[in-house]
Amino acid sequence: MSSLLYVLNGPNLNLLGKRQPEIYGRETLADVEAECRREAKAHGLDLRFHQSNREYDLIDWIHEARETACGIVINPAAFTHTSVAILDALNACDFPVIEVHISNIHKREAFRHHSYVSLRADGVIAGCGTQGYTLAIARIARLVRAGNG
Ligand code: DQA
Repeated sequence: MSSLLYVLNGPNLNLLGKRQPEIYGRETLADVEAECRREAKAHGLDLRFHQSNREYDLIDWIHEARETACGIVINPAAFTHTSVAILDALNACDFPVIEVHISNIHKREAFRHHSYVSLRADGVIAGCGTQGYTLAIARIARLVRAGNG
């Protein structure tokens, strides 16, 4: 059984720490990656951590994960609210998928309340700041251990 976990990040998350810190906080994506690596290691999981501003990169990584991984943590960022293509790619995967949003999308503009990705996600974490990523990794680790990986 694979012990490889993918953590995927969508558009503008490369600006984490600089962009709207009042909403997304001051931690950078490098800080988040370091925390994810610590959490994954604690659960005996290997990690691939990626960010892209391009939808096709995210889709290609989901296809790659489909062949090799035990789960995906994904913050699709703005593609959450627009991308049937990312939903379709995730629907082709058999392992646990947890959707993460740093902010509480339900407390924000109405256009952020709908998520295509939530139609596939096994769990959704929103509004827990960047801690949401490590919570999601712990959840995937549990599901994989329980045999749902
Ligand atoms: C986000 C929420 C999205 O609505 C937004 O487009 C983002 C980040 C979050 O992590 O809170 O870029 O996914």
